[in-house]
Amino acid sequence: MASEHKILVVDDEPANLRLLQRVLGDDYQTFSAASGAEALKILQAEEVSLIITDQRMPHMTGVELLEKSLGIRPHAIKILLTGYTDVEALIDAINQGHIYKYIPKPWDADDLRLTVKRALEAYDLSRQNDVLVKDLKKAITQLEEISMGVIRALANALDAKCDYTSGHSLRVGRYAALIGKALGLSTEKQKELEVAGILHDIGKIGVPEAILWKPDKLTPEEQKIMSQHPVRSAQIIGNLPALQNIKELVLHHHEYLDGSGYPDHLAGDNIPLGARIVLVADAYDAMTSDRPYRKAIGHEKAGVELRKHAGKQFDQKVVEALLSVVGEKGEKINHSVPESVLDWKIETIDPERSAKHARPEAQHQVEGDLAGWHEKVPQGAREKNS
Ligand SMILES: [Fe+2]
Repeated sequence: MASEHKILVVDDEPANLRLLQRVLGDDYQTFSAASGAEALKILQAEEVSLIITDQRMPHMTGVELLEKSLGIRPHAIKILLTGYTDVEALIDAINQGHIYKYIPKPWDADDLRLTVKRALEAYDLSRQNDVLVKDLKKAITQLEEISMGVIRALANALDAKCDYTSGHSLRVGRYAALIGKALGLSTEKQKELEVAGILHDIGKIGVPEAILWKPDKLTPEEQKIMSQHPVRSAQIIGNLPALQNIKELVLHHHEYLDGSGYPDHLAGDNIPLGARIVLVADAYDAMTSDRPYRKAIGHEKAGVELRKHAGKQFDQKVVEALLSVVGEKGEKINHSVPESVLDWKIETIDPERSAKHARPEAQHQVEGDLAGWHEKVPQGAREKNS
């Protein structure tokens, strides 16, 4: 056998079938069918590279057969044998993109051999292309996984340097992505939000630990250094072409809706939506995690605090989106959090877990409002830093 390709020829006229077999049988492994139904059975059983079918057949026309074959052998090349009188069927088949070529009847044996040769070359090329695309997608996925691994390692290093509980940056990333999902943003935007959430405070790498860990009130000079961290985060991210889309989200993650945030005092819709999302995610995780200088306030109270400051600091729809995701008492959060937001489960209510994570015992240790959740940058530091 000269070729590994399998060819299916279909015609209700036995003489035509014999002729096709004779022309192609020496060079290829051929299968013949006298009807569309018989052809479909062969397609189920054999990995056919090329289908050559007559158009005019009882019960099932050639075009109908080729349409049905798409569900079984989508990659097979399709050739229609038709008389000039079947123009309508031909236009249909061509418009639907099913056929590689039509061969007018009566056909010439040499022309048919050449057409089949070219068709199988096209088949091989298309399959090689599919393999390359598959390999490329795999390589891109691997690269993305490596990139996310590096980003997570950076975030963990940052959490260790700062006064954060372990995993704060990763949780902010996950909350941010899930808020994006709840708001109906695209998967691409959700991924950007996850990375923005993870890296939002990366600029703190440049802040001395003496300031980050200082238990007392910061001096004006220290406040100024601390308030530069979103700018530094954006500068670090700005050097990485793949992260350009999240630069603005990170730069403005301390802007408040009423314009009292920093570094640029942006207000309302002038603050990128992604930055408003990261702010809420950051605030929520900060309030629901213990820090060396204060205890967590619990999920229910954190929700109350977010709502209290919605419209002033926080975007109300972002707050509501978060609470819809985590539950009013954090009851939908699964704290056995896996590595990626894509498979982070939001569970149905589990009262036991809810009670455990609400940490009511810690609530009395918290000051009345949001003063405690935030980085230690008081109002005075909110000056133009850019
Ligand atoms: Fe920050």
